[in-house]
Formats: sequence, structure tokens, C-alpha cells
Amino acid sequence: MSRDAVTEIRERIDIVELINGYTPLKKTGRSFKGLCPFHQEKTPSFVVFPDSQNFHCFGCGKGGDLFTFVMEIEKLDFREALRELADKAGVSLETTPGVAPEKDERRQKLLAALDFAATYYHDRLLNSPSGEAGRKLALDRGLDGRMIERFRLGFAPAGWDNLGPLLRNRNIDTEIAIEAGLLQRREDGSGTYDRFRNRFMFPIADRDGAIVGFGARAMGDDQPKYLNSPQTPLFDKSSILYGLNLAKEAIRSQDQVVIVEGYMDAIAAHQFGHENAVAAMGTALTESQVGLIKRFSKRIVLALDSDAAGQMATLRSLESMPNALDHVDRPVPDPAGLVRFEKKLDAQISILQLPEGKDPDELLRKHPEQWNDLVKQAAPFLDFYINAVTSGIDLNDPRAKNTAFQRIAPLLRQVGDQLTQQHYLGRISGKLQIPEQVLWSELQRNQMRRASNAAAAQAPSRGSARRVRSEDYLTAILLKHPGLARDLLNEIAEDDLLDSRNREIVNLLRMDGADQVDAEVLITGLDEMVVPHAEELLQLLEGTPSAFPGQIRDAATAALNNIRRERLEFLMRQLQSELIAAQQEQNPDAVNDLRSQMAGLAAQKSSFAPPKSPYFKDSRDAVTH
Ligand code: CTP
Ligand code: MN
Repeated sequence: MSRDAVTEIRERIDIVELINGYTPLKKTGRSFKGLCPFHQEKTPSFVVFPDSQNFHCFGCGKGGDLFTFVMEIEKLDFREALRELADKAGVSLETTPGVAPEKDERRQKLLAALDFAATYYHDRLLNSPSGEAGRKLALDRGLDGRMIERFRLGFAPAGWDNLGPLLRNRNIDTEIAIEAGLLQRREDGSGTYDRFRNRFMFPIADRDGAIVGFGARAMGDDQPKYLNSPQTPLFDKSSILYGLNLAKEAIRSQDQVVIVEGYMDAIAAHQFGHENAVAAMGTALTESQVGLIKRFSKRIVLALDSDAAGQMATLRSLESMPNALDHVDRPVPDPAGLVRFEKKLDAQISILQLPEGKDPDELLRKHPEQWNDLVKQAAPFLDFYINAVTSGIDLNDPRAKNTAFQRIAPLLRQVGDQLTQQHYLGRISGKLQIPEQVLWSELQRNQMRRASNAAAAQAPSRGSARRVRSEDYLTAILLKHPGLARDLLNEIAEDDLLDSRNREIVNLLRMDGADQVDAEVLITGLDEMVVPHAEELLQLLEGTPSAFPGQIRDAATAALNNIRRERLEFLMRQLQSELIAAQQEQNPDAVNDLRSQMAGLAAQKSSFAPPKSPYFKDSRDAVTH
């Protein structure tokens, strides 16, 4: 089905990697920054968000998803951009949904190729003369032989054509080897070359021990320091934890997992007898990684770098984590008299802070006896979080204080019991110098608002209510009532809609005469790849009460306001995080710059009236299914 092609492209192509091919990006905490490819600038204000797979330029205001990016930079229309990205992702635009047995056969072939490669690299490390460099690295790093076996460590010899011929001898299909990320096609199309050359190899296994990819460390100062397998149908770095296959029994029996940053850190932990360690492979922890781990233990210890940038990255990853953790549903009567289900956090995350300048690998080798104590002393995550968010706040700046509290409040609400909430409020009160009573009522106020939202979201649904994205909701209203809001259509700026499919729909609606045609007919004028999304949008509004034109207009206006407000809030959170980092790094230029950007956004935000609509209280209350 065509919708799957768009989704599949989104899943396979990482927007960071894609954009990095046009303008070099640098990781700043959880997002990436670089010079904007759309306008001239000397200091980077172009930000890419890996989590939402969007980009935004604080300079020229351009933003969108990966399709938008390709459309704008290559001057393509949606269909052309789609085709280009489909090619790149190896997604066929024609296919019908996966015929399971075939898919499985392909999967088996990919796994076989990867396993063969792991065995080959391992053998080179142990036995070949060319593996000497790898053996020296292992020795220098104090890796013992048991770990080399346990983790199936290996060495990829220098040279372009070592693995390729062996794969051919084994009758492993070249297409398969390329898809597995082992070989790469030559530019001129004549044959292939080995992807991994002169590198120390860390095979990456899924939790059952099947090799799904590789991390490959440069021998000297070659760049990049680590070369990873590309995203493949089997390998998605963000949903794998390195070493889980070897750690899962210990994690279960000790009912605790320690998550470290790097391959070497995880291996060192195992070598020193701490077999409950896994590595997040350098990225900030993702929701799917947490989802994976919590099946083995819910007591999660994160071993954090001691540097500020690393801590900020973790902080940001933690902000999104409550959603990934198990929630216990418990019924609570809500103010409107309905019963809602309160979601209560059911996991324990704590933060292990390493001594200045050490990573776990180094610490374990020098002071192995300290590890257990550090793990025991790991601080509850909320303590760490509150410290990080409140440190460096200017106590004379009420807006900064408010922003800081608003960042903490959602997590505090997840805590559930009032005694604990009170405990933390006392602390925050001291740090922000705001009376505890004020914080308390602020927390309650938000809690009430959330409760009534939740009730509204659940009332008309048959169970699984889901939050509708404001931009989907707006596009849905416009599509369903093409004649009612033509002026709004013109008011919508390109950048109000991040999803390029919604932009396509709005562009269609802007055409002369679009308002004379039924939505069902109108959408046949869309690219067939966009049609399923449009159909979904129409379904979204099914079952909503009929309304007067004015009410529908109000609902659309409210949705547009929501989009802009949410976007500004998102961007402000981004700036706030950067600001804290800049303050910690004592970089006054960056601080000033970020402050003025922040002020700009705040001014924009204050121009939005709070949404009010009798049709829906808030587009966020809209419901599907
Ligand atoms: N990483 C990566 N790509 C990079 C740098 C790092 O994928 N260019 C990931 C790797 O999984 C790496 C982890 O981030 O293990 C931590 O990075 P770093 O601390 O630089 O590496 P170490 O594991 O400490 O490696 P070493 O001690 O050999 O320098
Ligand atoms: Mn290291």
C-alpha cells in the first residue's frame, strides 16, 4: 500500500544523515546544528531534530520534514522528492504490503551474510598476520581473550576487496551483502568494495544473539572514529542496546541494568564481572531502547559522562522517557465526574555520575573497586534532573524560572504520590526561590487542566484515544469543509505544516474551484502517495458533532493557533536547553545570542490568544477511532 512507502522511507532514512550530506551538522545535545543551506549565515542557526525527524532554521524560519527538505533544496515537487528518497531508501513505490514468507527468507539471508562476516573478522583478529594491528589494540586496551570470544570481536583488514570475494565464494548474493551493509557498490557501477577496512570490529547482536550490524573503530585517527552499519531492515541503532544478548540474564537476576555509552565501556564492565551492563552506542537513550530493556528489569542505572554536554544529552533523552516506561493505569474520578485513568510511572531510573573526565572503561581499569559503590550511590533521576534544569538559572529572570519549572512539572506529576511531590517541590522552591505554595498551586493547576483534557479525549472514544497532531487536525477540517475557511487557507504559511503531505493537501485546496468539489472527489487530485493520508484525515472527523460554519471556522483557527504555539514552545524548549548548556560552558556570546533568539520567540508566542472554540475545546481533545 502506498502509505507504507512514505512511512517506510521515513523509517529508513535518518534526516540527520540526509541533511549532513548538504551541510555539515554538529551534535549539540539531543539535536544537530549547522549552517543553514537555505540562507547565508556565519553562525549556525539551522537545527535538525532526530526525534521528530524535522528541521528548523532559527534564522530564515524554514522548516519541515525530510520530504520538504529535499523538495526545497533540490527544487523538486513532492512526487519527485518521493521518488528520489524511495531510491535512496531502497523502497519500491510499486510494492504491495510485505508477503511475509518472502520477507522472512530475505531476513534469514541477511542474517547469514552478517554472521559469516562476523566469523571472518573474528578469525582475522585471532589468526591473520594482518590482524596484528587489531591484536595490539586489544592488548593496549587491556581486553582479555575471554572478552574477545564473548563479544566475537574482530578485525577488518585494510584493502578494498577482502570480504567481497569470500562472500561470492559462499554464494552470498551481492545484493544481500550490500543490503546488509557489508559491501558498497562502486560509483561507476562496476562491482563492489568492502565497507569496513582497517578497523577493529564490534559485532552488534539483537537480544537473541543474532548479528544485525557492526560498529567499527578506526585504528588510528582515521575518521570517523566509529563507522557503523547503515540503517538496514535488521539494524536500527536507536532500538538496539549493545551487549543485551550477553547481559540479559544478569540484568534479570540482579534486577538492575547499567547503561553505558560505548562498546568499550560495556565490554570493560563485563570483563570486571558486571555482566548487567549494556551500551546505548553513543546516542542519547531512546524510547525504544528503554522499552526493550524494561522487559528485563525496570531498575535502570544510567552511567553518565562527567562532561556537561554529555549530561545535557542524557537530560534530553530522559525528558521523553516517561512515555516509554510502564505505566500503571488506575482509575481516578475527574473534576467533570467521569472516571479517567491516571498513568503512573512504574520504573526507577537513577544516574551514576562518573568522576571528572573518566569514562566507565577507564574507571574500571584503574579503580575497579569503585564501580559497585558508584552504582549504589546513583541518584534518583528526578534529583539529577531538577539540579540540571535549575542550575545556571538567573534568579532575577522570572520567565527563565517559569520555563525551568514547566520543564520539571510534567515529570513531577508522573510521580503520583503527594509526599514525594512535596519533597521535590521543597527543593525546587529553594533552588528557584519561589515559595513552595506557589509551586504547589501551579502544579495542581496543570494537573486539573490535564485531567479535563484527558476526560474530553476519552469520552467519545471506544477505548484507545490518541492525541491528534494539531496540523493533521487543521488539515482535516480544511479538507472536509473546503469552502468555509478560504481566508485561513491563505493565512497558513508553508512552515506551519511540517508534514509535507499536509502541505500537498493545502496546496490542492488553494486551487481555484477546489471549494466546489466534495472532499472525496477532490483528493483524487492528490498524488496517490498522499491519498491514504488524506483519507485518514477525513476519517478523523467522522462522528464529530455537526456544527455551524462559524464554529467550524473557530475550530480551524484554534488548531492553527495550536500549531504555532506548540511549535514555538518546542523551539523554546530547544533554546532553553542550549542556553543551559552555554551557561554551563560559560560561553557569554552564545548565551546572549540564545537569549535574544529566545526573546524573539517569546514575543511571537505572546501574540497568540489562547484557543477557544465551541466546536472543540482544543484540537488536542479531538479523537480518532
Ligand atoms: N560512537 C559512534 N560514532 C562516533 C563516535 C562514537 O557511533 N563517531 C558511539 C560508539 O558506540 C562509541 C560510543 O559512541 O562506543 C562512545 O563514544 P566514545 O566515548 O568516543 O568512544 P569509546 O567507546 O570510549 O571508544 P574509545 O575508548 O576506543 O575511544
Ligand atoms: Mn573510551
